[in-house]
Amino acid sequence: MAALLPCTHFSSAKFTFLPSSSSAITIPALRPLRPRLNHRRRLSLNSIRASVSTVDSPLASSTDGRDEKKKPLLQVTDLTAIIAESRQEIIKGVNLLVNEGEIHAIMGKNGSGKSTLSKVLVGHPDYEVTGGSVIFKGENLLEMEPEERSLAGLFMSFQSPVEIPGVNNIDFLQMAYNARRRQLGEPELGPIEFYAYIYPKLELVNMKTDFLNRNVNEGFSGGEKKRNEILQLAVLGADLAILDEIDSGLDVDALRDVAQAVNGILTSKNSVLMITHYRRLLEFIKPAFIHIMDLAWNIMNCCGFGMT
Ligand SMILES: Nc1ncnc2c1ncn2[C@@H]1O[C@H](COP(=O)(O)OP(=O)(O)OP(=O)(O)O)[C@@H](O)[C@H]1O
Ligand SMILES: [Mg+2]
Repeated sequence: MAALLPCTHFSSAKFTFLPSSSSAITIPALRPLRPRLNHRRRLSLNSIRASVSTVDSPLASSTDGRDEKKKPLLQVTDLTAIIAESRQEIIKGVNLLVNEGEIHAIMGKNGSGKSTLSKVLVGHPDYEVTGGSVIFKGENLLEMEPEERSLAGLFMSFQSPVEIPGVNNIDFLQMAYNARRRQLGEPELGPIEFYAYIYPKLELVNMKTDFLNRNVNEGFSGGEKKRNEILQLAVLGADLAILDEIDSGLDVDALRDVAQAVNGILTSKNSVLMITHYRRLLEFIKPAFIHIMDLAWNIMNCCGFGMT
């Protein structure tokens, strides 16, 4: 197992420093630390603390700010993976726990492996897992085919959504949605029923109906592709939505629409793992935990800023 770098966890009542061992050291209060922070940094921390302040509060009894009553949704342990073609090691021992109903963010420098980790989780064929385990809803995710992962409730919006020429957007969505319904033993929806189902979701992401009759992502602007990804999420639903830079290329109105749509589908059971470079997104979709993917180690620092 790769060593964890030190990480921090903030709460309104205490400041907890988690060293590389699993035991947490709690030292008194955030307040005495404040004078050491410069103005910009202080703003940033306050803003992050404020941004998490409306997230369901984990129990105070938890050592790392987690609600021990919440069920694990995704548990990644010592995950290692290589690039299938070159056999180069690319994921070098990632640990991550996402419980039901939690919003997590992953940040980190360009090339640190954030997208690769997400792609490994959804079973992208470019990568081969060489060690560790991933348990999703109590099942071994690594034994599932990519489509089984999706049917099991794992959704990923790609950093660069692919275009599918010749495939109509609404047909694609209907096919994917009906596959999910078959999996759940529910009757499939015909075109008219499906249109009635999807129409309010278009409003949710502020997309015009024209987009339904265009080929999937073909000729879409960057922002339209991102909205379309969230439309897919809204249509399919997901227990865990991995959103890879859903904010890139969005103007502030589009970002608000996308965030509103994501927030609109959150329940106490489903979770979001969002990858971003920008605090702006975290102001709209408020994470309980922020993890930093480390460039040198290509591992995840555990819990960044959270709140108890
Ligand atoms: N299929 C592949 N073949 C070769 N190199 C790859 C492949 N996939 C990922 N990499 C390399 O692995 C590293 C991590 O890439 P990744 O896309 O995961 O970074 P990232 O953290 O998402 O970066 P960014 O913030 O720029 O999106 C990069 O150096 C990338 O070039
Ligand atoms: Mg990336």
